[in-house]
Amino acid sequence: MPADLPNPPTPPDRLPHHVVIVMDGNGRWAQQRSLPRTAGHREGAKTVRRIVQACSERGIEVLTLFAFSSENWRRPRREVEVLMNLFLTTLRSEIRRLDTANVRLRFIGNPSAFSPTLQDYIAKAQQRTAKNTGLTLVVAANYGGRWDIAQAARRLSEEIMAGQLQPRDVTPDILQRYVCLSDLPEPDLFIRTAGEQRISNFLLWQLAYTELYFTDRLWPDFDVDDLEAACAAFASRQRRFGLTSEQIARSSHA
Ligand code: FPP
Repeated sequence: MPADLPNPPTPPDRLPHHVVIVMDGNGRWAQQRSLPRTAGHREGAKTVRRIVQACSERGIEVLTLFAFSSENWRRPRREVEVLMNLFLTTLRSEIRRLDTANVRLRFIGNPSAFSPTLQDYIAKAQQRTAKNTGLTLVVAANYGGRWDIAQAARRLSEEIMAGQLQPRDVTPDILQRYVCLSDLPEPDLFIRTAGEQRISNFLLWQLAYTELYFTDRLWPDFDVDDLEAACAAFASRQRRFGLTSEQIARSSHA
């Protein structure tokens, strides 16, 4: 197919239920234009709006975005301040539109390091959209995969200390109940932009069987056609969950 034709839409029954995205390349996008890195984050916020709308319209059930990792605090103070402001202003400007589009907003991560205003806004935005039944938009903020597994282990230990659980009862299925997103479908498709091929301490537990997709496109340039290309790549893969391809073929004909 010629490169300039848009990707045809993936049939709804072949779409991923849950897409997770590491939005990388904002800084490089800005540097290429001799702009401050923060201009890249602002442009990246516009991409967020575009991709949320596309996922919502396509009937994808869950979109999880890695907005700020627990390691991002180590960035220059000014960049962290701009990112915090951007989260607040984006939340303020988008919440009505998200609510009207029936989007349910959720945050994962440790909010305690955020300003009281941002924490308050996060809580209000979650409350306001809690009963919506369309796309679930999960924003990972001050999130780390190792932090997630550790908080699950801590809560399990508390139950053991309280005598509600025995150490011998701890299995992957039990631990699964305590990690973030346990009430949602497991991620089907992981997308990372800007050419890096790393998970970078994102959903370590939850990505066990997720299909990984990497693109060189920088996040501010990522568009609906790029999302379509990722969905098409996902639809073309055979997911085996540890089985052989013959077993999969037999079960799909059963
Ligand atoms: C990574 O690019 C991007 C981030 C750390 C921030 C992502 C934040 C946004 C897209 C802003 C809006 C988000 C929401 C949910 C409102 P980078 O700075 O590491 O890029 P580089 O690798 O090119 O330097």
